[in-house]
Amino acid sequence: PRRVRVHHLTELKARGEKITMLTAYDAVTAQIFDAAGIDVLLVGDSIGNTMHGHPTTLPVTVDDLIPPARAVARTARRALVVVDLPFGSYEAGPEQALATGVRFLKETGVNAVKLEGGRRVAAQVRALTDAGIPVVGHLGYTPQSENLLGGPRVQGRGDDAAERLSEDALAVAEAGAIAVVLEMVPVDVAARVTEILRVPTIGIGAGQQCDGQVLVWTDMAGMTDWSPRFAQRYAELGEALGRAAEAYAADVRGGAFPDEAHGFTR
Ligand code: KIV
Ligand code: NA
Repeated sequence: PRRVRVHHLTELKARGEKITMLTAYDAVTAQIFDAAGIDVLLVGDSIGNTMHGHPTTLPVTVDDLIPPARAVARTARRALVVVDLPFGSYEAGPEQALATGVRFLKETGVNAVKLEGGRRVAAQVRALTDAGIPVVGHLGYTPQSENLLGGPRVQGRGDDAAERLSEDALAVAEAGAIAVVLEMVPVDVAARVTEILRVPTIGIGAGQQCDGQVLVWTDMAGMTDWSPRFAQRYAELGEALGRAAEAYAADVRGGAFPDEAHGFTR
């Protein structure tokens, strides 16, 4: 499609074509990933870890996410742009979720919001959807609940947990969710959820059977020394950037930059 819309996601699933999603937190990366043909750009609350130097996503606020969401929405020409509802901005109930969602759509131009949880947030998904705000769900390991979950751990292991995860996925889908992210979920559980949902599943550490995949871009591009086991590093950009900075510093110190070509005449 010329512009990815909500209905295209379900169409891609129906045709068995994979959906691609990456995080983006600024205009620079949004432009690059949009031109690369990534279908969905997520202004994730992972900005807390990746860009703002926090240990978790918990301190991220709506005010933190407004400028990056605006930058990505302004820049993307083809991709669908989704922003995370940060911790504390939707859990209280449908009214709070709706107020936050409306603020993001009014002030940033994003196309959809994402929130974490299953049955416990089904009423929020319904209220946002009824107001015309598309919602992406997020199940399995949900980083905003890291204190309760005991850190990044696979979720949905064992028959009971797998059944609960399926019920949660059905609940958010029935409430109107346009897609569901599955994070750190056993391969067979993610496959089962993918099978029972009409809307697409987007996996991260959830195996090959999901209808799409999402990665945090800094993991995908190898910006940092450490990346999670479920991510693949498609470049070593951190190292490349470090080498570029060292070469620049050496040239400045040695007088090789700037040369005549970079100067202005009078
Ligand atoms: O914030 C984020 O980057 C996310 C993805 C990992 C799905 O929620
Ligand atoms: Na997130």
